Amino acid sequence: MTSLLAISDLHIGYQENRRIVEEIRPTSDSDWLLVAGDVSEKVSDVEWALRLLGDRFEKVVWAPGNHELWTHPSDPVQLRGEERYRHLVEVCRDLGVVTPEDPYPIWTGPGGPVTVAPLFVLYDYTFRMPGVATKEEALALAYDKGVVCTDEMLLHPDPYPSRDAWCAARITETERRLEARTPGVPTVLVNHYPLVRDPTLILYHPEFAIWCGTERTADWHLRFDVHTMVYGHLHIPRTTWYDGVRFEEVSLGYPREWRPRSTVPGQLRQILPVPERAS
Ligand SMILES: [Fe+2]
Ligand SMILES: [Fe+2]
Repeated sequence: MTSLLAISDLHIGYQENRRIVEEIRPTSDSDWLLVAGDVSEKVSDVEWALRLLGDRFEKVVWAPGNHELWTHPSDPVQLRGEERYRHLVEVCRDLGVVTPEDPYPIWTGPGGPVTVAPLFVLYDYTFRMPGVATKEEALALAYDKGVVCTDEMLLHPDPYPSRDAWCAARITETERRLEARTPGVPTVLVNHYPLVRDPTLILYHPEFAIWCGTERTADWHLRFDVHTMVYGHLHIPRTTWYDGVRFEEVSLGYPREWRPRSTVPGQLRQILPVPERAS
């Protein structure tokens, strides 16, 4: 049956993950695949994976993860921040892959119609620990605990003064796009980070939540007629519900994370039609 499928956090810098991606196949000729970020740190790897998937699926929709946005010393492409993001968007466009900068496509297959909106919203250090009032305090606490996201070293916000300033600009632009969407059609939102904080509450290191989203999207699942919210980044694959809205964490994750699980790694999550287990 034709399906709208999703996965994220392919992390193909790991050979085992690359082999899993090589085996990803649609279930029909007209399946779409949502890729919710963290394909790889290297632009050439991102291109390799999205080309392979783009050849197999009728449509591939991509939202950037923090790893794509790193300026990693091993990547010949040393672009930073907004320039790096725009370069990735151009790479995707050449492959026919839909990005947050393109018109939102409408899925008219089973379970549709829905507007599929890939988002790039980033984070702004507002998912702080209880009693922590500021970004500075939250960062100090994280450094103290030794729980520091590599973004602090490699995800440059240029030309914005900070990652939170870049996030603020992305929120403004994304709200404008979502408000201008086709009226009367529910949405499937695809963002690397969850739009609500709740999924981060089970993190092993709660200090890490500051790199996992923003409080400013807390009502988007209600505001923008959301059918399903697709995200990754946490590497905790599961289905949860907030205010009656389905949230799907669709990550593959690192080999050390998926290896101990009893489930087959690299299975695509069915978003539409709504599978039995999620209805
Ligand atoms: Fe990831
Ligand atoms: Fe991530």
